[in-house]
Amino acid sequence: MPASNSYRIEQGGRWCGTVDVPGDKSISHRALMLGAIAEGTTRIRGLLAGEDCLATAAALRRMGVAIEPHGDDRWTVSGVGMHGLRAADGALDLGNSGTGMRLMSGLLAAQAFDSVLVGDESLMQRPMLRVARPLNAMGASVETDCGRPPLRIGGNCELVAIDYSMPVASAQVKSAILFAALYANGVTTVTEPGVSRDHTERMLRAFGVEVRVDGRRVSLVPPVRLQALDIEVPGDFSSAAFFIVGACIGATGPVCLRNVGVNSTRTGLLGILAEMGAQIRVEPKAPGGAEPVADIYVERSELKGIHVPPALVPNAIDEFPILCIAAAAAEGETLVTAAGELRVKESDRISAMARGLTALGISCEERPDGMSIRGGQICGGEVDSHDDHRIAMAFAVAGCNALAPVMIRNTTNVATSFPGFVDAMLGVGARIAEV
Ligand code: S3P
Repeated sequence: MPASNSYRIEQGGRWCGTVDVPGDKSISHRALMLGAIAEGTTRIRGLLAGEDCLATAAALRRMGVAIEPHGDDRWTVSGVGMHGLRAADGALDLGNSGTGMRLMSGLLAAQAFDSVLVGDESLMQRPMLRVARPLNAMGASVETDCGRPPLRIGGNCELVAIDYSMPVASAQVKSAILFAALYANGVTTVTEPGVSRDHTERMLRAFGVEVRVDGRRVSLVPPVRLQALDIEVPGDFSSAAFFIVGACIGATGPVCLRNVGVNSTRTGLLGILAEMGAQIRVEPKAPGGAEPVADIYVERSELKGIHVPPALVPNAIDEFPILCIAAAAAEGETLVTAAGELRVKESDRISAMARGLTALGISCEERPDGMSIRGGQICGGEVDSHDDHRIAMAFAVAGCNALAPVMIRNTTNVATSFPGFVDAMLGVGARIAEV
C-alpha cells in the first residue's frame, strides 16, 4: 500500500486535554553538532527525532561521530573533540533542513578536509550566500551554485576573526559564524540588525565557551575547548504553536501544553495572540538547563484582527502559517508586514498560505513582505502544503474549524519537525485521518 501523503480533517469532535510536543528542532541540531566536537559524551534528553535532526545526526556519523539512541528520547553523542571530525565519503545530505545546512557550513569551513553539502529539492533552492559571504570573509572557502546549494567547502583554511554586521537578522547565519569562530585566531563579533533566536549563544556557554553579549553584538572568545554535558531539550514552541492556536479558535475545554521552551526570542506569537484577545497562561517551571521552560494553558478565546507589531515578527517568524489561521478565525482584519523572509523558508510561505486560505474561502491579500487576512467562516476544500511541514499542520488546525471536510495534500514533510503530529491531534480529540 502506498504511504499516505494527505490528511483528511473533519470539523467537530472535542478539542481539549494535555499535549506533550516533541523536542525543539533548533536546540536539537545545536546539541548534536556541539556534542560532536566536544570532549567526552554528551547526553541529550528529549532530542527531536524528526527527519531534519536525523539528517544532521547522519551527516555527523559519516564524519566519524558515534550518535546513539537509548530508549524513547535519550541520545548520546560521543564527542571527537574540536579537531576529530574526518572527511565523509561523499556529499553530506541535510535533507529539508536550512538550519542543518547553514550551521554545518560554519563547522565544516574550519576543518582540515573538503566537504560538499546537498539537500532535498526545497533546500537546493534556498539562499546560501548569507552564510558563504561571512565565512569567506573569515578566510574560509565556501562556494555556492549561483547562491544556492550545493555548498562546496574547502578544507585547510586558517580562519581569521571578523567583526561582521549581518544584513538580515538570522539565527542560522549568526550560528554558522559563531561555529566557525570557535576555530578563528581571535575574538569574532557578529552584530544583528534585529533579534534572532539565541540558542547557540546559550548552548556554547553551557559547553564552556566564552560568549559575550552586548545588545545586538555577540562575541566569541577563543581559545576554546568544549566540555561534554547533559542537555535537556524542551518541547518545541513552534510545534506547540499549532495547539495553542487550535485551542484559541476551537477548544471545547482547557488545553495544556507541557514542558515547552519559552525562550523570549521564540515566543512572539504569545504577544501577538494576547493582543488579539487570547486567553493564555504561561506557568514557568523551575530553571533547569540553559533554556526557560513552562507549561502553557490555553482557553477558547474570541480573537480580533490586529496589525501585527513588526517588532514581534522576527520572534514569531516560524509561526506565520498558524498565525494566519488565527487571523482567519478572528473578527476583522489582520495585517502582517515586515515578514519578507517568509518567501525563502521551506516554501514561499506567504504565497502558500494565501493560496490555501483562498481555497478555504478566506479573503486575503498577499503583500511583498506579508499579508492581510479578513476573518470569516473557514469552508471545506483542498489545500496543497507545497511540501512544507508548517503549512500542512496549520491547515490541519484550520480544518478542525471548517464547515466541511478539508483535504491537505503533501503531508509527509510533517515528519521533518513533528513526528507524531496526527497522534497529538487525535489526542486532543481532533478528527483527522491520514489518507
Ligand atoms: C532557525 C532559525 C530561523 C528559523 C528556522 C530555524 C535556527 O531562521 O526560521 O526555522 O534554528 O537557527 P533564520 O536563520 O532565518 O533566523
